[in-house]
Amino acid sequence: MYVRPAAAAAAAFLGFTLTVLGGTTSCAATGPASPSSPSSPAGATGAPGLLGPVVYAHRGASAYAPENTLPAIDLAMRLGFDWVENDVQRTKDGELVVVHDDTLARTTDAEQAFPDRGPWRVKDFTAAEIATLDAGSWFGEEFAGARIPTLRAYLDRVQRNRQRLLLEIKKPELYPGIEEQTLRVLDAAGWLDADHVQRRLVVQSFSADSVRIVHGMRPDLVTAFLGTPTVADLPKYAEFTDRINPWHTTISADWVAAVHRLLGAHGKAMEVDTWIVDDQATARKVQGMGVDGIITNTPDVVRKAVLGAFAY
Ligand code: G3P
Ligand code: CA
Repeated sequence: MYVRPAAAAAAAFLGFTLTVLGGTTSCAATGPASPSSPSSPAGATGAPGLLGPVVYAHRGASAYAPENTLPAIDLAMRLGFDWVENDVQRTKDGELVVVHDDTLARTTDAEQAFPDRGPWRVKDFTAAEIATLDAGSWFGEEFAGARIPTLRAYLDRVQRNRQRLLLEIKKPELYPGIEEQTLRVLDAAGWLDADHVQRRLVVQSFSADSVRIVHGMRPDLVTAFLGTPTVADLPKYAEFTDRINPWHTTISADWVAAVHRLLGAHGKAMEVDTWIVDDQATARKVQGMGVDGIITNTPDVVRKAVLGAFAY
């Protein structure tokens, strides 16, 4: 089992503070195993170890700005968060775009702009059509005119902001070949050089097949599987991925420890980034379970919670 020195030191520190306070030691007394790069490109705003779990701005700072838009990642940057998460899908004419739902109805004015095109599936609209949609007004009038960005435009903005990206390939079963295409766009945007691969990019999916394809094409990339496999099944995932990213309601400290005991695709201890945690109590709870990262719509709230654990 590989134990990162910084994590061990932080765990010892947290264990000490809890002991002084008369609290339980939980995982902090022993500390979760956790790898260094390339499978642990820690964020400046909460590297696992001394400052607690890495905090990821889910779909950007999506509690405060329209999800998966450029304003949402700009706001995450202004709040001090360098890791942003997004969702990638494909248009009718083959452009990769950043949007969560597989229809445009919830987060754009597609129903008004194209009333006879229901159910407004992303894959039934061209990139030019999608570029005309308002992806901000549904969230707040101050965001009127925000657009669904192309993946290329999104990457360029993340780069300009000096942020890092947890990229989700969303519903790959709808988009054959999207893994290879995503890698091509990443490459063209300069996101597959050593700096990005080692420190600034993680590719994840709910589809194990999709993660396996990405790993097969670019074995150097850090990848994550979204889900909560049984402990018995975890070794199969460790063959092709570095992280298991579960919904927070599905995990326990024992399960997190079981993930940490395994060596992932890069020969380092596997990690756990859990989602969607938007309140302080839950953030502290999953921190106590030993997670490496927390994916959240309210990164400021979570940062305050996880740093508070060290404020005694
Ligand atoms: O990053 C984890 C999270 O994004 C998974 O759920 O539905 O928000 O993409 P969803
Ligand atoms: Ca997502």
